Amino acid sequence: MKVGVTAMALLLAGLHGAAAADVELNQTQMLGRRLVDQHCGVCHTRPTLVSGMYGPELSRETAGGNQEIVRGIVADGTPRMPGFKYMFNAGEIAAIAAYLAVLPPGHQVVNLPPK
Ligand code: HEC
Repeated sequence: MKVGVTAMALLLAGLHGAAAADVELNQTQMLGRRLVDQHCGVCHTRPTLVSGMYGPELSRETAGGNQEIVRGIVADGTPRMPGFKYMFNAGEIAAIAAYLAVLPPGHQVVNLPPK
C-alpha cells in the first residue's frame, strides 16, 4: 500500500497552492498564504473551472505591487469587500500583503478548449 499513499500525497501536494508552487515562501509569506487560502479564496479564486469570480485575481501586480496600498485595502475593505482590521492584526495583514507580492499574475486564468 506504500505506493498508493505516496501517489495520494503527490496528488494532494499538486492540488494545494499550485499558484505559488514555484516560489519559495518564507515564514511570513507562509502565514499569509494560509490566511489568504482560508479567508479570501471565496471571492478571489474560481470556485470551479467554469465559474466566474466575484473579485479580481490577486497577485504581485495587485495595486501596482504597492504593499502599503494592499494592506490598506485588506484592513478597510472596499464597497464590495469586507475589511479585515478587526479579524487580523497588523502583522497578519502585512503577511497577507507579503504573500500576494510573490504571486505571479494569471493563476486564475483558465484556458478551456473551444466547444
Ligand atoms: C466577499 C468577497 C470578498 C472577500 C471575502 C475578500 N475580497 Fe478582496 N475584493 C472583493 C471585491 C469584489 C473586490 C473589488 C473591489 C470592489 O468591487 O469593491 C476586492 C478587491 C480586493 C483588492 C484590490 C484589488 C485590485 O486589483 O485593486 C485586494 C488587494 C483584495 N481585495 C484583497 C483581499 C484579501 C487579501 C482578502 C482576504 C483577507 C479579501 N480580499 C477578501 C471581494 C472580496
